[in-house]
Amino acid sequence: MNVTAPTVGPATPSIFAPVSTPAFAIRDLSFLVLAIVTFIFIVVAGVTVYAIIRYRHRPGDDRRDPPQVYGSTQIELAWTVVPFLIVIILFLTTTRYIFAIERPAATRDTVEVTVVGNQWWWEIRYPRLGIVTANELHVPVSDAARPTRTFITLQSADVIHSFWIPQLAGKTDVIPGKTNRTWVEPRTPGTYVGQCAEFCGVQHAWMLLRVTVHPRDEFDRWVAAQQAVAAEVPESRTGRDVFTSVACISCHTVRGTPANGVFGPDLTHLMSRATIGAGVASNTPETLRAWVKDPAVLKPGARMPAMNLSGKQLDELVAYLTTLR
Ligand code: CUA
Repeated sequence: MNVTAPTVGPATPSIFAPVSTPAFAIRDLSFLVLAIVTFIFIVVAGVTVYAIIRYRHRPGDDRRDPPQVYGSTQIELAWTVVPFLIVIILFLTTTRYIFAIERPAATRDTVEVTVVGNQWWWEIRYPRLGIVTANELHVPVSDAARPTRTFITLQSADVIHSFWIPQLAGKTDVIPGKTNRTWVEPRTPGTYVGQCAEFCGVQHAWMLLRVTVHPRDEFDRWVAAQQAVAAEVPESRTGRDVFTSVACISCHTVRGTPANGVFGPDLTHLMSRATIGAGVASNTPETLRAWVKDPAVLKPGARMPAMNLSGKQLDELVAYLTTLR
């Protein structure tokens, strides 16, 4: 079975290419720390290389030890005070950045999102907008005309996960029984990738996240499309009957149908997502068919069981799923 690899966005998941407010601060702090340690490295390595070359063995050298120094207040003060000052500088700067990041001011416009970590996918809810989706977070850009911060509430349904989109914000743990918060304020539209950053079981590596940052009008259109219930497509009626007659509906929700399960991703607008299985494959009819037939082929250990459907039922079901736009 050939499965198209997921198309990751043009952006590299690097903290050195930030596009969002807390990520700018993290990059700046990283550069400061790098500058200090690079300076220390150059001094230490420079003195070492100088000593190796200057004092290397030469023919005819006097082989006796040079005069030994025992105790020097000046040297001891220097190697105590200088590192202490460096630690103080790093400590104070880091503290300042942590406070700035942990206590963000609300902008006039804000978007509230709740992200729930599950083995091995992300549920994404917009409580104020009545939207539920999965694995692909959509947020508006923040510009001078309309500064908009997106506040993200993080919860876990099972084990410890970690939410990390390096270009947008620092890593935040997602812990069962504890609610953590993070926020982003992206300045550049585009698609940014991230992933679960805490080992959480066999498919930890395939617990990817994609964040699409939209210009405001595009974001509003996305919201309106997601708020709609699933459209009725008469031709896909048989596929819909397959869907509602098998176990799909005990785990998945399709708003506007009897399917209201909560253990798996909401499928109301499945086809609006670029990937399936938390980024394991591109979302195409072929990969969907392979996934429904047996998710373990694409993602070993996935919690969704193989559905044991006939080829005809699979075709009908996939035809129905592809109407969920
Ligand atoms: Cu979830 Cu690693």
